[in-house]
Amino acid sequence: MDVRFVTEGKGDTIVVMASEGAVLAPHGVAVEAGTGGAIARAVAASRFTGAPGQVLEILAPNGLEAARLLVIGVGSIEKVDPLVVERWAGAAVRRVLTSGSQTLVLMPDLFPGVPIAESAARAAAGARLAAYRFDEYRTKLKPEQRPSLTDVQVVVEAPAAAIARYETLSAVVESVLFARDLVNEPPNVLYPEEYANRIKELEELGLEVEVLNEEALEELGMGSLLGVGYGSVRETHLVAIKWNGARNKSAQPLALVGKGVTFDTGGISLKPGAAMDEMKGDMGGSALVVASLRALAVRKARANVVGVVGLVENMPDGAAMRPGDILKSMSGQTIEVLNTDAEGRLVLADAVWFAQERYNPNAVIDFATLTGAIITALGHEHAGLFSNDDDLAHALTLAGRDEGEPMWSLPIGPAYDKMIDTPNADMKNIAGKPAAGSIIGAQFIQRFIKPGVPWAHVDIAGVAWKPGPYEDPLSPSWATGWGVRMVNRLVAMRYEE
Ligand code: BES
Ligand code: MN
Ligand code: ZN
Repeated sequence: MDVRFVTEGKGDTIVVMASEGAVLAPHGVAVEAGTGGAIARAVAASRFTGAPGQVLEILAPNGLEAARLLVIGVGSIEKVDPLVVERWAGAAVRRVLTSGSQTLVLMPDLFPGVPIAESAARAAAGARLAAYRFDEYRTKLKPEQRPSLTDVQVVVEAPAAAIARYETLSAVVESVLFARDLVNEPPNVLYPEEYANRIKELEELGLEVEVLNEEALEELGMGSLLGVGYGSVRETHLVAIKWNGARNKSAQPLALVGKGVTFDTGGISLKPGAAMDEMKGDMGGSALVVASLRALAVRKARANVVGVVGLVENMPDGAAMRPGDILKSMSGQTIEVLNTDAEGRLVLADAVWFAQERYNPNAVIDFATLTGAIITALGHEHAGLFSNDDDLAHALTLAGRDEGEPMWSLPIGPAYDKMIDTPNADMKNIAGKPAAGSIIGAQFIQRFIKPGVPWAHVDIAGVAWKPGPYEDPLSPSWATGWGVRMVNRLVAMRYEE
C-alpha cells in the first residue's frame, strides 16, 4: 500500500473530519458544498456526533465522483492532538481496507494542537499502522478477504513540509511494523539463530551487528543466559547492535536491553497448557529494542545507542535446568533457580551486565515480557516502570504518554530486594511468596546494575500483544509493536544533539 501527499486527491473513497457536534472541518465543508448537503442529511438520519473515531459512511454520495464518503469524528477541537489525527486516518483504513475500495483520499485539517504539515504526516502514519496485516502464512485467503486498498493520498496544500515530516515519522512507523512481524512470527520459524540472522540483515542500514553464539557466551561466562537454553535444541545467542550517530563517536551510549525468549514453555516448571502459544511473544522486549535501533538508523538519529538482546528458547528436556540448580552469571554472582519459568530475569542478568561491561553506557533501559503479575496490576493499558533514577523514569513516562504508549511507575527498594536472598547462593530467582511479583523481577535485574548507573526496567507483558479482539485501529494485529515509538521519542528528547 502506497502513501503519498498530493495537493488534489482523486479516488473512490474520500475522508473528511468532523468535530464534536458533527461540525465539519474546512475540507469537509468544501466537499459538502459539492454534494448539495448530502452530509447534513446523513448526519440528521444517523446518530453521528463527531466523537473520536466514529464513522459516518455515505455510499454513492450525490454530486461526487467518489463512490464513498467517510465523515470521521475527531471529538473536541481543543483536544485534537497528533494521535487523534492518526486514529482518524486509522479508522478510515480499517473501514475500507478490504471493502473493494482501492484509493483512499484523506483530507486532514489543522487544529490548535496540530499544525497542518503535522496533521498530514500523522494521517499518513495512521494509515500505515492501521493497514498492517500478518498474512504470511495464510495461503487460502479468498479475494474478498484480501486488502483492496492500494493507494492512500493525503491531501495537503503544501506537500513539501508534510513530506519532510513524514520522512522522520515513517522511519519509526515502519519499524513498528517490523517489530510486529517479529512478535507475530511463529516460534518454529523465529528461533534464536534465525532471529540473530534477521538482526544481522539490519547492517545494511548502517547498524553494527555482533552475533555471539554459545561458544562465545561460554567464554564470557554467561551461565545465567545459557542456563535458560539448556533444554532447547536451538542454540542460544546474544546479539549486540550499535548505532553511533552522535557527532562525538566516543560519547557514552544509551543501552537498550531486551528479553528475547523465542518461546517460553516454563521449562521444567512447565506452564499450564491454556494459551501457551502466546509465549511465542516472549521475545517482545527484544523486538522493541531491535526495531528501535532500526528506526534510529533509518532516520539517522544524532545519538549513540546500543541494543543488547538475549535470544533463547525455554524448553523442558533431559538437559534442561532444574529447580534447585545454581547458575553462575557473567557478573560472577550465583543464582539459585527455584522456578525455571522465571527465566526472563536470568536472560537479562547477563545481558545488562554485558551491556555495562562492554559499552560503559550513560543509562540502561531493559524491556521484557517479564511477569504475569504486571497484567494483574495494570492490565493491558500501561506497561510497568521501575527505576533507580527519577529523571530517567520521568522522561520515559512523558515519552510514553506522548506516543500513546503509557507506563506506570511501581516501587523498588531494599525491603523487596531482601526477598531474593537465599542461604544457598547469592540470590534466588523467585521470592517464594506470591506477592509483589513484578517488583521482585525488577529487584533481581537491579542486582546486575552497577552502582551509579541510571537504570529503568519496563515490564511489557501486558502490552506487547493483545489478548482479545483487536479494537485499536492503529494496532490491528495480535502483536502491537509497543514501545518503538516511545523509545524513539525518548532518544529524540533526551539523548539527541
Ligand atoms: N514470560 C513470562 C511472563 C508472562 C506471562 C508474559 C504472561 C506475558 C504474559 C515469564 O517468563 C514468567 O513465566 N513469569 C512468571 C514468573 C514467576 C514464576 C515468578 C510468571 O509471571 O508467572
Ligand atoms: Mn517464564
Ligand atoms: Zn518468559
